[in-house]
Amino acid sequence: MNVLYFKSKEDGSIKGAELIIEGIKQNKNLVLGLATGSTPEQMYNYITSNYKNKDVSFKDVKTFNLDEYVGLKNEDENQSYRYFMDKNLFNHIDINKENINFPINFSETNLKPDYSYYDELIAKAGGIDIQILGIGNNGHIAFNEPGSKIGSKTRLIDLAESTIQANSRFFKDINDVPKKAVSMGIDTIIKAKKIILLAFGDSKKEALTKLIYAKSYDENWPCTALWNHKDLTIITDIEF
Ligand code: F6R
Repeated sequence: MNVLYFKSKEDGSIKGAELIIEGIKQNKNLVLGLATGSTPEQMYNYITSNYKNKDVSFKDVKTFNLDEYVGLKNEDENQSYRYFMDKNLFNHIDINKENINFPINFSETNLKPDYSYYDELIAKAGGIDIQILGIGNNGHIAFNEPGSKIGSKTRLIDLAESTIQANSRFFKDINDVPKKAVSMGIDTIIKAKKIILLAFGDSKKEALTKLIYAKSYDENWPCTALWNHKDLTIITDIEF
């Protein structure tokens, strides 16, 4: 585990963007796992603003997003993670839209418990080369909430009350926050060859502390699944 401290979120976001760009320069067919939320937003914006120089191409890059809400109200479709990614990254780069993958379309209503087809799709693509992660205040990674099994696959999940609370900042009314999502499983995440986890601000300190000092997997803190990953870089503005 490599913990990189930055004095600001901006500096950390630049580092994250540089690692992604470097990864694509080394492997134009990179398979990239992507996160949404407030944490990676500046990193994506840094990529798109620098992308104008076009010294890197996303043409052959494949992306797999970690998760997507289900059950959004029609007027809240701009809260979907697909919308977030289009707005912050995909619409500004030369990625082939067919190479963009989400575990489910946010408007899908015919829900099933099991979405492990997504894990198979990732395996068929050769596995994730670089996985970007944020972290929930409750220690979730993707939407693997406390109680998630280490071997969990991509599946329909019930969002924890604390996650609904945290995500309500983007909605007019807390009752509009979806209660369910489809999330990549822990098993899929830890199979990524390289993981870059971004964590900014004191609200993430408890969860990050659990990960940094973990000696085994603790289901109450799903982030601890990363404790013995072979290539984990943590980018943070939290001092340890
Ligand atoms: C988002 C995701 C979540 C977020 C986490 C932190 O795709 O998988 O695990 O990374 O909820 O969210 P922010 O960055 O908004 O604090």
